[in-house]
Amino acid sequence: MFKILKKERLAENISRLVVAVPHIARAAKPGNFVVVIPTEKAERIPLTIADADVEKGTIAIIFQIVGATTKLLDSLKVGDEIPHLLGPLGHPSHIEKFGTVVVIGGGVGIAEIYPAVKALSKAGNEVIVIIGARCQDLLIYQHELGKQCKDLRITTDDGSCGRKGFVSDELKDIISSGKKVDLVVAVGPVPMMKVCCEVTRPHKIKTVVSLNPIMLDATGMCGVCRVVVGGKTKFACVEGPEFDGHEVDFKELTDRLKPYRDVEKQALDHVCRLLSITPQ
Ligand SMILES: Cc1cc2nc3c(=O)[nH]c(=O)nc-3n(C[C@H](O)[C@H](O)[C@H](O)COP(=O)(O)OP(=O)(O)OC[C@H]3O[C@@H](n4cnc5c(N)ncnc54)[C@H](O)[C@@H]3O)c2cc1C
Ligand code: FES
Repeated sequence: MFKILKKERLAENISRLVVAVPHIARAAKPGNFVVVIPTEKAERIPLTIADADVEKGTIAIIFQIVGATTKLLDSLKVGDEIPHLLGPLGHPSHIEKFGTVVVIGGGVGIAEIYPAVKALSKAGNEVIVIIGARCQDLLIYQHELGKQCKDLRITTDDGSCGRKGFVSDELKDIISSGKKVDLVVAVGPVPMMKVCCEVTRPHKIKTVVSLNPIMLDATGMCGVCRVVVGGKTKFACVEGPEFDGHEVDFKELTDRLKPYRDVEKQALDHVCRLLSITPQ
């Protein structure tokens, strides 16, 4: 059982929990994730380790409330215990001194890039961070990321904060300004990662994306998380979740995220009835 020590609402439908789990805090590296089962009968969901504090023995997870299991997780309060938390899982991000690295976070992906931005800056890279959301109210982690890099750029779809447009527009401008970019890291919704890869492809700039297929066991046994990379099947839980974006079959990934929509809706309605709340 893992006690929740802190809970914050970062934006509409995005929560942050700090959980006491010393063995994971000690072993966590940027890019790792955990599998969380929020209540005894709930499903398993993968969530990125957004931060780890070895001294306090805690990790932070940040999640968007999109369905039944994230709704159940968000129903927990400070002092409650999460029955099962497995990790750290997945390959850690590859961190070294590359030169200039552009790190891009979209939506809840903004929180997921935080450990990588910290580690890439510490390794001596010039890190340019681009974050984007639909509107200002959905932007998270500006201050935390601002402390970890010298160049933080913000985009919103409606122009309510930073540049009006998409993270990929800002990426295009950085590249066309003649700045030498050695690596791009993009984490966020699948269409965002795909567009970022299309921007960098003609310039042959290596682009790493973090894939988010549905996962079940997250230990390489069930095959649910399979993705196609470079024409080969890979299991994102044990061979990823980070891959070379220029090799990823994004259409296949998008299609594989769709088939359970009806069941997911039924599960959400069921959980909302249990919690006596209205589905959003
Ligand atoms: C390695 C990894 C790390 C992740 N890290 C985070 C994180 O740090 N924070 C966070 O908020 N989410 C993260 N996700 C996504 C998260 O696991 C899903 O949002 C969660 O499983 C949804 O569960 P649910 O039961 O609440 O919703 P469901 O009922 O399963 O789904 C509700 C809606 O969300 C969509 N959805 C479900 N799973 C995913 C998915 N994996 N990616 C995109 N859309 C999905 C469904 O298509 C549906 O429209 C991560 C996924 C992976 C694979
Ligand atoms: S989630 Fe089962 S093999 Fe990856």
